[in-house]
Amino acid sequence: MSAPMRHVSRCCQRRISSCLRVSGNSESKTRVLSAFSTYFDTKKTVLGIETSCDDTGAAVVDNRGRVLGEALNSQVKVHVEAGGILPPVARNLHVESIAGVVQEALDRASMTVHDVDAVAVTVEPGLALCLKVGLDHAKSVVRHSGKPLIPIHHMQAHALMARMSDRVDFPFLVLLISGGHCLLAVAKDVADFVLLGESLDDAPGEAFDKIARQLNLKNLPQFSSVSGGVAIETLAREGNPKAFDLPLMLTQIRTCDFSFSGLKSQAKRFIAREEERQGVSREDILPNVADICASFQYGVLKHLARRVQRSLLFCELHGLLPKHKKTLVVSGGVGSNQFIRSGLQKVCDMYSTQLVCPPPRLCTDNGVMIAWNGMEKLLSGQDFSAAHPEAVDFQPKCPIGEDISSAVRDASIKLPPLKLL
Ligand code: KG4
Ligand code: ZN
Repeated sequence: MSAPMRHVSRCCQRRISSCLRVSGNSESKTRVLSAFSTYFDTKKTVLGIETSCDDTGAAVVDNRGRVLGEALNSQVKVHVEAGGILPPVARNLHVESIAGVVQEALDRASMTVHDVDAVAVTVEPGLALCLKVGLDHAKSVVRHSGKPLIPIHHMQAHALMARMSDRVDFPFLVLLISGGHCLLAVAKDVADFVLLGESLDDAPGEAFDKIARQLNLKNLPQFSSVSGGVAIETLAREGNPKAFDLPLMLTQIRTCDFSFSGLKSQAKRFIAREEERQGVSREDILPNVADICASFQYGVLKHLARRVQRSLLFCELHGLLPKHKKTLVVSGGVGSNQFIRSGLQKVCDMYSTQLVCPPPRLCTDNGVMIAWNGMEKLLSGQDFSAAHPEAVDFQPKCPIGEDISSAVRDASIKLPPLKLL
């Protein structure tokens, strides 16, 4: 289906198609144009609210994927200073900012809650205390405005972001890499995903954050209020990715699962040894910090790339992706890393696959992805008007879809060599 038609309601699609069947005289052309303008005039808008982790986000988007208003309050500075996310601290910060952030998004769109068609909110997965703040606020908004409430799965929203920023049709492969998650899935439809593999322990963003902490990067003024991932990526640009050889994880296990805790512990041990060898105190910065950052980042990329390689081969084996238009979407906070993107581009080139990464600001948590996922649900014909908002609850843990990772294991796909650098 063409890009504009994808976002057209079924009823309007039928009207446009019936016009197009009429022979090509000027009257039919006028009717086609009038059908299109009816569609574009009947604009829908959704307000999205995100509080699942450490960002309070809100946005209003329309059915054409335009962001009409957006606001975001990142807590990253507080958590970097504290050395990690403490859920009660994150909850309190969401409580302080949620009303202001939602109002700011609406003000920027020059709208009120009465103008939007629905309110979408992240209800799963995430930190329980944080999810509750967003859901409670969304419920109060719909109670006040009488609008439908659309519950959103945070990871599905990350995946579908690419359909707003780029033209991506179902089915597509998606790698979601963030501070709390790491998974490979096939997105078959708006709310229909199959899971190929996920992290057995840490998420890559968590590993980036812990290594950044071990390297005391927050003591450098330019990194005092950015995430560990951003600090490592910035320093790595000046370093040699092959300076230190960190072990590749799960090489003997032919799955699409991930593991980052081994890589993280090896890197931490290596840093402690380097501090001792170079006589650098625990609070100081190692002189070869750029090489360490580059080697660690390369270690993360190698592991991600091998799992993506296997997932593409598995999809080919089972016909899970269109033969002539395979797409890999990479999203989540770590997906904004340019070095990782360019490495994954090489894997995609090897398998004639298109790589799509939303712009970095839409890879990290934000309200736009929640609003857009709500819009996709509305456009797919789901009706939320009858559902009782008060019955909606949050779930801290919730799989993205059916888990077929055992089929990946059974396929036992051996990987051909891969050259990333
Ligand atoms: O998706 P996100 O905003 O929040 C969730 O975890 O859901 O991801 C945040 C994570 C943090 O761990 C952060 O260090 C990491 O994404 N991150 C990065 C980069 N930007 C953010 N990791 C590597 N390179 C980056 N440029
Ligand atoms: Zn996220």
